[in-house]
Amino acid sequence: MLIAQLSDPHIALPGERPYGRVDTALSFERAVAAVAALSPPADLVLLSGDLAHHGLAEEYAHMKRLLAPLSQRVLAIPGNHDERESMRAAFLGDGYLPRSGFLNFAVACGPLLVIGLDTLVAGEDKGALSEEGLLWLEAALGAAADRPSLIVMHHPPFLTGIAPMDRIGLEGREGFHQIVRRNPQIEKILCGHVHRPIEARFAGTAAATAPSTAHQLFLDLDPQAPSSRFLLEPGGYQLHLWDEASGLRSHTALLGDYPGPYPFRSAL
Ligand SMILES: [Fe+2]
Repeated sequence: MLIAQLSDPHIALPGERPYGRVDTALSFERAVAAVAALSPPADLVLLSGDLAHHGLAEEYAHMKRLLAPLSQRVLAIPGNHDERESMRAAFLGDGYLPRSGFLNFAVACGPLLVIGLDTLVAGEDKGALSEEGLLWLEAALGAAADRPSLIVMHHPPFLTGIAPMDRIGLEGREGFHQIVRRNPQIEKILCGHVHRPIEARFAGTAAATAPSTAHQLFLDLDPQAPSSRFLLEPGGYQLHLWDEASGLRSHTALLGDYPGPYPFRSAL
């Protein structure tokens, strides 16, 4: 199984550049083209939140046009920039989202179970898992306890060490931690939100954030850092490769054209 994860594309209206400077649509177009060109092809594409920059219906329509080159199934969860009902309306036809309530889903993908968790709190940058969401998660995991599982959620359940992002992190971590601890079939928790790749151990499994396809967070581990800033490092995406013998391996790929590839053995 090969799963591509595209995170935090922040698609705005056609022609609009978020923050007056980030061409998020161009970055996403490049990420989609890179995934479409993969050989072997990805079996599934995950979008781990902040699909739209303002949560507008027109932005989701723009995103769906940009996704057109992909023939794979696409599964999306919301981030803090998304608007739940606009996103539901845009993706409901794909058949995996509920008609009301949180945008949670559990979808079998070959031998894997992919669980999407909605951590969106309307009007807030932080995320949360409600009691209702945790009960749903426990039931979804319990219904397929022998299946290797991936959880995809926007807000990471661990503290990143980047203070301004941790202030807008996930609430309700303790209950989530207990459920994950009780379900060793969870191979990894795949997140977005931070616009940087970060790896962590969480409740006996692996957890990570993916880079944004667009702008990246400035890496500042100063606990007194007053606010988060972004920079235009290359965007990226992740590829999660799974087989029964080796489990899950995650690769981070950067977008852009670079010299190479060159052979290590050169005639020079
Ligand atoms: Fe984001």
